[in-house]
Amino acid sequence: MSADTTSVDGPVPELRDRAVACADRLRRADRVLLASHIDADGLTSAAIAATALERAEIPFETVFAKQLDEREIERIAATDYDTVLFTDFGSGQLDVVAPYAADGAFTPVVADHHRPADVPDGVDEPACHLNPLLFGLDGASELSGAGASYTLARALEPPNVDNRDLAGLAVVGAVGDMQGTDGGLSGANQGIVEEGVAAGVLEEATDLLVYGRQTRPLPKFLEYATDVRIPGITNDEHGAIEFLSELDLDLRDGDEWRRWVDLTMAERQTVVSGLLQRAIASGVPADRIDELVGTTYTLTGEDRGTELRDVSEFSTLLNATARYERADVGLAVCLGDRDEALDRARRLLRNHRRNLSEGLQWVQNEGTTVEENVQWFDAGTRIRETIVGIVAGMAVGTSGVRGDVPILAFAEKSDEEVKVSARGSHALVRQGLDLSRVMREAAREVGGDGGGHDVAAGATVPAGTRATFVAEADRIVGEQLS
Ligand code: C5P
Ligand code: C5P
Ligand code: ZN
Repeated sequence: MSADTTSVDGPVPELRDRAVACADRLRRADRVLLASHIDADGLTSAAIAATALERAEIPFETVFAKQLDEREIERIAATDYDTVLFTDFGSGQLDVVAPYAADGAFTPVVADHHRPADVPDGVDEPACHLNPLLFGLDGASELSGAGASYTLARALEPPNVDNRDLAGLAVVGAVGDMQGTDGGLSGANQGIVEEGVAAGVLEEATDLLVYGRQTRPLPKFLEYATDVRIPGITNDEHGAIEFLSELDLDLRDGDEWRRWVDLTMAERQTVVSGLLQRAIASGVPADRIDELVGTTYTLTGEDRGTELRDVSEFSTLLNATARYERADVGLAVCLGDRDEALDRARRLLRNHRRNLSEGLQWVQNEGTTVEENVQWFDAGTRIRETIVGIVAGMAVGTSGVRGDVPILAFAEKSDEEVKVSARGSHALVRQGLDLSRVMREAAREVGGDGGGHDVAAGATVPAGTRATFVAEADRIVGEQLS
């Protein structure tokens, strides 16, 4: 088979021919090294690619990396694999990858959604580069790494194999990367949702957009719903219980509070109406109130009341493994392990939640330092560098942290290196903000490197360069927004 004789359908027509060419290249490999990123999107990307390779009977081995830097690429080049499939990273490092490919060290196949780096002059662009940004799609909201991997998986299908059951994992990846806008997925992601629904693995519904619909008892569910703050309920255990008790519903099962999934549609309606009334009465702005309800995605094959049934809870569970050096655990869960790996993941999740909540509290207490165009905080060793970006994203717009300027979050990586995470907003991106450029350029200025997306990016810089980095980032953001 070759690119011009094979035709597959799939959710992303723009990417289809490239996906077919990439699949073709993989089929010609004796064996493949699959390398992926350590977050929810990276894990689901790897699980999708691994399943598709297995079904296509292409031998492979999987490795994960926190970051694909020069050292990591050098290590990969030193293995005796001659075909390397990079998922959820690779594009941002094409400047390093392409020369290895040109030298014949390995043939890269990249399924990614990060801003591509420029290939050095005189070096060929790798042919098998599958990235929504190359086809006019937004890599931060229209297709994730898992979505790119899914597109490749559809193209890898042997006759009589249907990989659409992998759409559920692709949606977990997209939601894990916060690709939803206006209360749901859109663009190419929506095409994947439709394939998942058609394959019977996914359900779409309009529901309350609060984290923990499957697992949290109702009072905790409402108390911890912090995306849209409702005075007297958010962060107020007593208030949440009182609100629920006044609703004239039977929301307990014996001594235990029921969970959102346990409620009937009519009961959910009553709670939602009550919440909306309370929000309006407390003066929550109308556009914030709209954010309370949106599209939710449920994996129909998973047990009710588990973290795995709701894609958003699933993605948090995955971050709780891979961001703590246990990508193997998260990958096993994605591949279907519901015993030991799931137990381990649940224990890691408790730890992750505690770290997020302590980290958030610390940032709120400390507040940020506001420069002309950016705000920043430096957590040192108080927040793990692998989650400092998540904490920064959660902190934006809460007490002590402005919502209208980009945030830079520093955390110590080692004695020599510092991690920086940057988060903006879609409103700022519309005004010209591109954090992937900011992070790349400011980091290179101080001897580090970075990249990512316009709305969320990151970098690693040498210790002791914070002041220069902040000044440089502040200047570039100022230029972008002027
Ligand atoms: O490496 P990767 O692309 O997988 O990570 C994307 C990161 O960007 C995630 O941490 C996600 O939370 C963040 N993001 C964000 N806001 C968006 C889109 C992505 O904070 N609108
Ligand atoms: O680590 P963090 O969640 O802040 O990453 C935000 C985005 O920036 C992710 O998409 C990540 O892959 C990207 N990033 C990058 N280069 C780095 C650090 C992060 O491209 N050195
Ligand atoms: Zn991603």
